[in-house]
Amino acid sequence: MQLERILQSQGFGSRKACRAMVWHGRVTAGGQPTDDPFAEFEPDGLGFGVDGEAWVYRERATLMLHKPAGYECSCSPRHHPGVLSLLPAPLVNRGVQSVGRLDVDTTGLLLLSDDGDLIHRLISPHHQVAKVYEVTAKHPVDDTQIAALLAGVQLRDEPAPIAAAECERVDTGGDGRVIRLTLTEGKYHQVKRMLAAAGNRVEALKRVAVGGLALPEDLAEGQWRWLEAAELEWLLERHA
Ligand code: URA
Repeated sequence: MQLERILQSQGFGSRKACRAMVWHGRVTAGGQPTDDPFAEFEPDGLGFGVDGEAWVYRERATLMLHKPAGYECSCSPRHHPGVLSLLPAPLVNRGVQSVGRLDVDTTGLLLLSDDGDLIHRLISPHHQVAKVYEVTAKHPVDDTQIAALLAGVQLRDEPAPIAAAECERVDTGGDGRVIRLTLTEGKYHQVKRMLAAAGNRVEALKRVAVGGLALPEDLAEGQWRWLEAAELEWLLERHA
């Protein structure tokens, strides 16, 4: 594939803009400086550089972000900055979107992709993708509340009670306010509404895993990283 087309596909602008970037000596490909935008390269696995920053060609862009509080997941955020503002411009240009949404005050694992099929598969109720939340409640979560969350609580506007797939207290040494809750649906404010229906209230909410992928401990709030090919394959196989 021609270098200018490779750059365009990776979100670096129009073909014309990419051609000019190469002509102006801002690009390396395969470890070598090049001023030929029409040079042919095998894109798969190609390492290239733009203004000194290293990239690897990826047909699709799929990544994980450790979402901080204070960011909206919407593409057109209204009251707070959007999560896309935490990503480099080429990823935004490629049209990555969040896989489902987290509330503005929720932190934790957010997947983003420019692969519409993948997004659809991961948010479709049919695939029942497990989302694991660490919930800090206002009051200690007692056994009755855990039993209610597991048995199903009635939310307003829902035809039937909704149950957590798993629910356990995790701060055994603390005052019992922290639980780990696994849901397989993705309804609006679901965790907050379920806790309220069980007679408690969410004080802090962090998503720690999606579809079996855990938020890496070394991924700080506000940081993102690519999903590795093996992680992607595993995710797709699990939700085929
Ligand atoms: N449930 C909520 O209430 N909020 C979130 O951000 C995610 C799940």
